[in-house]
Amino acid sequence: MSLNAKKIVIGVIGLFFLGALLIVGGVESNKRIVGKKASIKVSSESKNCVGCHTVKSPSLIEQWKNSKHALRGVGCMECHKAEPEDKDAWKHQDALIAVVVSPKDCSKCHAQENEQFQASHHADAGKIIGSLDNVLAEVVEGDMNQLALNGQSPVAINGCWQCHGSVVKIMENGRPDPATWPNTGIGRINPDGSKGSCTACHSRHQFSVVVARQPDSCGKCHMGPDHPQKEIYEESKHGIAFKAFKEYMKLDAQPWRVGIEYSAAPTCATCHMSATSEMDVTHDVGMRISWNLRPPISEKIDAKAIKAGVETVPWEERRDNMKNVCGKCHAENYVDSFYAQFDSAIVLYNEKYGKPSTKIIKMMKAGGVLTPTNFDEELEWTYFYLWHHEGRRARHGASMMAPDYTQWHGFFEVAERFYIHFVPQVREACEKAIHKGGDAAAKARDVLAELDLILDRDEHKWFLGKMSDKEKAQRKEAAKEFKKRYAGN
Ligand code: HEC
Ligand code: HEC
Ligand code: HEC
Ligand code: HEC
Ligand code: HEC
Ligand code: HEC
Ligand code: HEC
Ligand code: HEC
Repeated sequence: MSLNAKKIVIGVIGLFFLGALLIVGGVESNKRIVGKKASIKVSSESKNCVGCHTVKSPSLIEQWKNSKHALRGVGCMECHKAEPEDKDAWKHQDALIAVVVSPKDCSKCHAQENEQFQASHHADAGKIIGSLDNVLAEVVEGDMNQLALNGQSPVAINGCWQCHGSVVKIMENGRPDPATWPNTGIGRINPDGSKGSCTACHSRHQFSVVVARQPDSCGKCHMGPDHPQKEIYEESKHGIAFKAFKEYMKLDAQPWRVGIEYSAAPTCATCHMSATSEMDVTHDVGMRISWNLRPPISEKIDAKAIKAGVETVPWEERRDNMKNVCGKCHAENYVDSFYAQFDSAIVLYNEKYGKPSTKIIKMMKAGGVLTPTNFDEELEWTYFYLWHHEGRRARHGASMMAPDYTQWHGFFEVAERFYIHFVPQVREACEKAIHKGGDAAAKARDVLAELDLILDRDEHKWFLGKMSDKEKAQRKEAAKEFKKRYAGN
């Protein structure tokens, strides 16, 4: 739907609700959104809620009054109303309400945003349950037995789920199970079966786009040692420009198109979601990226779908979408050259570290050189650091112009992890298995032979002291030049 068509639909919906409105005395807004005093209109259904909650939770009501929703007559019941057959229906005062407001509830008025969101990886983020990382939360770090809350590991409840989303359970009394809620994880599974949580980015009860457009908003989840996008952005020239010129960003404008309403800097939303003169806003954050930089070996974002025979948007088209954004501030050749630099870093990571280490670990697991239990051997932690932390940091840094993350938090640590920890630990585990004898001993010999083949490749030879004479001479010459440049300074 075009921006204009969307406006008309929202306008019609707005009018529909206005029809059923009463103006409630005492509910007056002093609101900034329109710059002058505006009357807040509330349906008769929501009148009691507002009255009592003004006393019980005044800030909540104040936030709602500051919202476009309040101005358009979207009151408490437009979002919280429940039907008797709903799993999460709770008799509260004289009304039947749901505490949890799901994307399905928002979709009554924002169908397109919901449709795009449901198709995104964000909506699927709750599917991590059962992943390798999840063993950490439920077993290695946490506990599902004596130390659990209602049978769930406190590590998952307070950690993973707050970003990825819980499966929200409703108790007999109609109230959410405290082991599963409060939770605004992006891929939360709701009692009505819908996926995700719009409040993950649109904080209640103001639901302001200003909040959603802030890098900090994405940064609640996209940060830290294994996906430091927020830190990367802050290091980049883009983040620097945003900090310097934030006041000129018109973060509350609607529409908000780079190169028209603002031009000082791109935020996360600018590049991944927001509109340009040619593109509408998208709530599918995968529509402008071409790689998946998360797994041990990076693939193009459409690779899985192609393998499964599922139709999808090709990576080239997604990259073109992103280039459309960059093109509002940069020249075409500049952007193409950036992508050449970025791609070269991903290919290097894959070929030099990702593929070899993954192959070795798979051989060791399958051959019984490593135990079937995950994370009980040092080598497994080493491999995890290599791809999940350091390898991602190198790739993520290169994707968003952060040289320090690419180099010192990235490739430097990848190399150290590979040569100084991974290689010796593989040898040690194999030698132990050979010493023990049995089936695993033969497999361990295969692993050692494979490791030797890997290290004998051009990109690793230096480690065996087998760098070619030509390359050695080149390096010596370069070192001499370097010393000469600084001589006497
Ligand atoms: C007479 C006062 C009163 C009225 C009327 C009222 N509420 Fe409440 N509401 C409360 C109080 C007190 C609580 C906290 C009680 C609790 O958590 O058990 C609460 C809790 C809630 C909760 C949070 C429950 C949770 O589990 O955290 C929601 C959501 C809510 N109210 C929505 C509404 C809506 C929507 C309406 C209008 C239909 C409404 N309230 C009407 C007093 C009121
Ligand atoms: C645009 C939709 C929307 C409107 C309008 C709305 N809410 Fe909510 N409300 C939510 C969402 C989303 C949550 C978060 C619950 C969840 O996790 O899904 C929530 C949570 C709550 C909570 C519990 C969370 C907390 O912080 O304690 C209360 C209480 C509440 N709402 C009361 C109200 C009242 C009273 C009104 C009317 C003034 C209202 N809401 C209007 C969407 C809405
Ligand atoms: C009953 C209809 C209705 C429901 C339900 C509803 N909204 Fe809205 N929403 C509106 C209307 C009307 C507007 C104002 C549109 C405008 O002014 O252009 C709006 C505006 C918004 C905006 C833009 C605010 C801005 O600052 O520009 C966001 C974000 C939003 N809604 C999110 C949500 C979320 C999230 C939910 C569910 C928790 C939700 N809405 C539920 C009707 C609704
Ligand atoms: C601070 C928020 C946060 C926490 C806490 C968190 N994650 Fe994540 N996780 C993310 C983000 C953000 C991504 C996506 C990173 C990216 O796209 O680069 C992600 C990615 C993943 C992936 C990869 C998904 C894929 O599509 O490849 C898995 C699996 C995962 N997390 C599991 C977990 C588990 C299990 C825990 C708890 C032990 C956890 N995460 C804790 C935010 C978090
Ligand atoms: C990953 C964060 C994120 C999530 C999750 C999210 N939104 Fe948004 N949303 C945004 C951003 C950022 C904008 C502002 C886009 C722009 O620049 O105009 C936005 C804008 C909107 C708008 C204003 C209209 C527009 O196109 O600008 C509505 C309405 C909206 N979102 C509804 C929803 C609903 C409904 C959901 C849940 C299905 C949802 N959003 C989930 C980040 C998010
Ligand atoms: C200047 C534009 C731009 C800005 C600003 C930006 N990104 Fe990106 N982002 C990119 C590009 C380009 C890629 C790599 C695209 C590809 O794979 O082709 C990317 C990739 C990503 C990925 C995919 C990582 C993965 O593991 O596959 C995530 C997640 C992400 N960005 C989040 C963010 C967050 C969060 C912010 C703000 C803190 C942000 N981005 C700011 C351009 C941007
Ligand atoms: C509540 C946590 C949370 C917030 C807030 C959040 N994300 Fe994410 N994001 C995730 C998780 C978790 C994943 C990985 C999902 C998976 O693959 O299972 C992810 C994945 C992504 C991806 C990769 C998508 C793909 O198709 O591979 C991009 C890009 C992205 N997020 C951008 C953003 C941007 C931009 C914002 C802010 C406007 C944002 N995210 C806000 C948790 C979050
Ligand atoms: C809103 C405008 C805007 C958008 C959109 C934008 N950039 Fe930039 N970009 C800038 C500014 C401003 C700088 C700083 C220029 C300088 O160094 O003087 C910059 C710098 C850069 C640099 C140089 C980094 C450095 O450290 O010298 C690269 C590379 C770059 N951008 C690539 C991109 C790519 C690729 C995209 C799209 C994914 C993009 N930009 C989107 C404004 C933008």
